Amino acid sequence: MKRVLVATAGGDCPGLNAVIRAIVKRASQEREWEVIGSIQAFNGILWEPTEIKILDEKTVAGIHFQGGTIIETTNKGGPFAWPVKDNDGKWTTADRSGEMIRKLMYMGVDAVINIGGDGSQRISQRLYEKGLNIIGVPKTIDNDLSATDSTFGYQTAVQIATEAVDKLVTTAASHNRVMILEVMGRDAGWIAMNAAIAGGAEICLIPEIPYDIDKVVEKINDRFLRDRGFTIIVLAEGAKAIGKDSSEEQNDEIGYMNAKLAGAAVRLIKELKDAGLKHDMRKAVLGHIQRGGVPIAYDRVLATQFGVKAFEMVMDGKFGEMVSYRHPHITSVPFTEAIREPHCVTLDSDLMKSARGVGISFGD
Ligand code: F6P
Repeated sequence: MKRVLVATAGGDCPGLNAVIRAIVKRASQEREWEVIGSIQAFNGILWEPTEIKILDEKTVAGIHFQGGTIIETTNKGGPFAWPVKDNDGKWTTADRSGEMIRKLMYMGVDAVINIGGDGSQRISQRLYEKGLNIIGVPKTIDNDLSATDSTFGYQTAVQIATEAVDKLVTTAASHNRVMILEVMGRDAGWIAMNAAIAGGAEICLIPEIPYDIDKVVEKINDRFLRDRGFTIIVLAEGAKAIGKDSSEEQNDEIGYMNAKLAGAAVRLIKELKDAGLKHDMRKAVLGHIQRGGVPIAYDRVLATQFGVKAFEMVMDGKFGEMVSYRHPHITSVPFTEAIREPHCVTLDSDLMKSARGVGISFGD
């Protein structure tokens, strides 16, 4: 019997369970393969005792429409930065990657499928360089991974954000207010921009275009005076005014790997007031709502395609590569290409032209 280990890493994302199910269903067609899952990314392997879950057809039945991941995940620590307390009681990190690879060999694991975002693909590349037979599956609501046209979970996040805009329109119009919706996306404005277009927002502020607060005020005033008496702003969590950094919050969770973006909407309201805006303003921070719950059909399909492809790559020995969607094909690219540069909104794209074409202001 051959064994493939599946791990889900980084923030959870709608469609993770559909990938797991597809891997298991495809593997079950090949009699000699067994699929196991590591609990909480690679923590399940690094913990003593080991925490794994046998993934068979019964375990994965009906999970394709469930949000989250049945094998749990984490965006803290990992095999190269395992949190340990030193003799002075301070937290530091240890490289346990070699130990983990040896343990996987001892467990009879022939291949690993790591489903994750950019950070996870980087970890996969380093494990591959150390000799592990590993394949990546791109996952993130942020859609910030290059070398793939899209990631699963992203369209679900856009859908949820759009529904939030729809709801804010009715309350904004009733109260003649400026309503700001803060959405996720880290350093990429994909969720914000798509929700702004789909929801008919007047202003969209994204990390790729630092905003001029006076231009934002101008657009709001114009909208109130000449058009209708309310304004919807979709604000990416990583957006910033010209000359400023993104708004971050201190995070004392041990081993947390990323800067914690937070507070963009609160800051924008203050900037607008300071710039003289007189209208009533309210904010809504969508937060993890855009990451939870059922994946839309598009993401279930993409996730299923990714899962099937990942297992076929295991059989073909295509290690050191990440599954990639290049319309209309599901293909693969080396990790090195997948992690080379982030995928951000480009200013000369057709999508940007369409957004500007319907009058959306980016504060520039
Ligand atoms: O990368 C996915 C993401 O949801 C980002 O959009 C967001 O900044 C971050 O994760 C939030 O992470 P956490 O779940 O640790 O709060």
